[in-house]
Amino acid sequence: MKILCIQDGHNASASLMINGEIILALQEERFNEIKNYTGYPYESVQYCLNFLKKEKLNLDLAGIASTFKNPYGDKIKMFNNFKPSDFKNWWKTKINFNYFVTKIGQKANFVKNKKRDKSTIKYLKEIRNKYKNKFEHYDYKFLNDNIINKPHLEIELFKNERLRKFSSHIGLSKDKIEFIDHHTCHAFYGYYSSNLNGKDCIISTIDGGGDGYKQTTWSVKNKKLKLLSRNNSCPLGKYWKIICVLLSLKPMEHEYKIMGLAPYAKKKYTDEVVREFKGLCEIKKYDILEKKLSNKSLSLYEFLEKKLSNYRFDAISGGIQKFTEDLVVKYITKILKKTKHKNFVGSGGLYMNVKMNKMISEIDILKNIFISGSAGDESLSIGACYFLNKGRKSLPLKNLYLGFKEEKIDIKKISMKFRLKEIKNFDPIIKELESGKIIGMYNGRTEFGARSLGNRSILARPDLKDTVKNINEAVKNRDFWMPFAISILKKHHKKFISNKKSLESPHMTLGFDTVKKNLKYIVSGTHPYDGTVRPQILEKNFNINYYKLIEKFYKKTKIPALLNTSLNLHGKPMVNNIKQALYTLSNSKLDCLIINYKYIVKKK
Ligand SMILES: [Fe+2]
Repeated sequence: MKILCIQDGHNASASLMINGEIILALQEERFNEIKNYTGYPYESVQYCLNFLKKEKLNLDLAGIASTFKNPYGDKIKMFNNFKPSDFKNWWKTKINFNYFVTKIGQKANFVKNKKRDKSTIKYLKEIRNKYKNKFEHYDYKFLNDNIINKPHLEIELFKNERLRKFSSHIGLSKDKIEFIDHHTCHAFYGYYSSNLNGKDCIISTIDGGGDGYKQTTWSVKNKKLKLLSRNNSCPLGKYWKIICVLLSLKPMEHEYKIMGLAPYAKKKYTDEVVREFKGLCEIKKYDILEKKLSNKSLSLYEFLEKKLSNYRFDAISGGIQKFTEDLVVKYITKILKKTKHKNFVGSGGLYMNVKMNKMISEIDILKNIFISGSAGDESLSIGACYFLNKGRKSLPLKNLYLGFKEEKIDIKKISMKFRLKEIKNFDPIIKELESGKIIGMYNGRTEFGARSLGNRSILARPDLKDTVKNINEAVKNRDFWMPFAISILKKHHKKFISNKKSLESPHMTLGFDTVKKNLKYIVSGTHPYDGTVRPQILEKNFNINYYKLIEKFYKKTKIPALLNTSLNLHGKPMVNNIKQALYTLSNSKLDCLIINYKYIVKKK
């Protein structure tokens, strides 16, 4: 069974499954270099089609993640084009208010459809043609004045257009293409891709919203997934988006910066902000629900703007992080007790928060937690494949090296512009690392998701404090308060990382405390203020060459880890192809680039 699915919203992607195994998963941003690209993932789909053609295979089924989407948000590509302040105007309008769906999530609920007010219509007319996008694959001509006050019609017409485009591109008839509910995709990705696939557990999905829901809770018993509850009320995703804007950051992109800033806040001020949030929502049965605001005349944005206006940026960051951690831990503890489950899977944008995941992992009654790589919307296309494969065996992901691979690298051409040396073993790479050099690693397939896992990485020894400053100045120009991460060999990791439950974290999705006496050996890959770490705990079969490289580094230095951050220039998506990798080398102070463990490339 060959299944191709797409996510055509925020951080668009395409994934290919063959006989229950995910073979390819690609993000469109890597091809078009627009971070978190929103829209039809043309190049990613084409890459899958080329693969099928080469293997002489035909598609059986296809799927589109998310049944209903707001066409205005997609046309203007708000998450690519908006400045933080633009979101304030968007949220003030009533564009989205009637995008409710029926209980089974399949049909737009026209009964609840309401007319838009004059100011919303004026705003839509102003912005619908405002942005010139570099890449546009959908035809939005249906968004005209005739339907500007018929929101239920515009989502149906957009649905038709999405189906038309995908069907004609892949050459599969429309009846073999299914739309799949947003949170169902999150849940199926979280469960089937993980090492808990096949085991009893709870699945929780929480995000900023999709197909009319913001939270779902599932129970898995005897390999059967049962939806316990879902709601459109859970406000956590909204809080984070609003706070991004209040701190002049980009929502759906910079939330991790708030998480990174949180540990710097003093407890007193953190607690004060937490108190401001208390009472805004409550846990009821399986749901986190928003309560009515005390001042009904204000929007949630205006309400929080007013409430938080006297707090500093660090206190707000610390407060929202602590409030989120406490609330989610309380909710998960409650559902674990209620269902008597001991295992937990989280999926959806909120579960990108590694610090929150750390707190969940420390719940006493929880035995095992698994958060798959990049639990945000980019992984919806993988979840959609798992959904369409239901009734047949679906395999967990072996690793995340599922992206683009350069078929042929023209070494001769590279040697004309760069100093190039062929290497027979790891020794020359170790020599560079040992001497404190910052190296770029380009190997095989690109990793799927937000984290570099050794194939498109910047590596350095993790025990030198200056490394953070050096990398920031040499390549990344990233925010001074943000931590880097490490890759560490599983067999030695407990000497450096506190992991009492022996949890697996191959995709850098869990935070851990460090073993204080050994912190100095991995210090530049930990949070500079609280010493926590977001490690890739590496097993041999995950990435054999990368494993051997770190093993060799360990033999020389007694440190079984390397600092690992993504190979990209500031503001650009992670490097995809060799051309982008060489561009990164040329336009940074990287000391060298390793290609497929065979060549060391340096600037002339
Ligand atoms: Fe989502």
